[in-house]
Amino acid sequence: MGIQITPSILNADFAALGAEVARIPSADWIHVDVMDNHFVPNLTFGPTMVEALARSTDTPLDAHLMIADADRHAPTYVEAGCASVTFHVEAAAAPVRLAREIRAAGGRASMALKPATPVEPYEDMLGELDMLLLMTVEPGFGGQKFLDLVLPKIRRARALMDKHGVETWLQVDGGVSLETIERCAEAGADTFVAGSAVYSADDPDAMVNALRERAAAARG
Ligand code: DX5
Ligand code: ZN
Repeated sequence: MGIQITPSILNADFAALGAEVARIPSADWIHVDVMDNHFVPNLTFGPTMVEALARSTDTPLDAHLMIADADRHAPTYVEAGCASVTFHVEAAAAPVRLAREIRAAGGRASMALKPATPVEPYEDMLGELDMLLLMTVEPGFGGQKFLDLVLPKIRRARALMDKHGVETWLQVDGGVSLETIERCAEAGADTFVAGSAVYSADDPDAMVNALRERAAAARG
């Protein structure tokens, strides 16, 4: 698996999302942060908005659901046009069943872990997942400082994936920038979310490519 850069639109202009996405044609995916004011103390948008965004771009959408009762709502985002749907394990009652439902609906199934949630309990379900997201900030807001304490978990997750021979992608999200992306790539991440780093750049598309080059160099 090569390096993939997945800009988050959380720090984009919400009144012009179609145009904001059109500014980053080099993005591999568009990361869509869905927040419900329950699982996290912030509120963004729901399936109707996501469906409109999916219609406005050819770049696949990577939904990151920071919502309670993920079991009930996650499949809706596949129907809304998201090629990948990530639920939080902390918000899922039956993560194996949910991952299978997302796949059955035609989406890539992905599961997220907050910084303090260990990866080891989920070793045996890695084969059920198309992607594992390790949060490198506490979810809820863009522009937070990268948490270096997650780096050992990225290494352990990569080792578990190698041990089981799974094709699961390993995504990191939160505080990823030109300064921190090398550490993540060296530790074993292959899929990188970047919000403020991309949308605060003078040329967001050039930043997408700069991030990809730096991560690729670090992975060797
Ligand atoms: C945080 C979100 C992230 C966030 C990333 O809860 O899940 O996707 O938008 O933004 P930056 O890159 O600014 O940390
Ligand atoms: Zn996110």
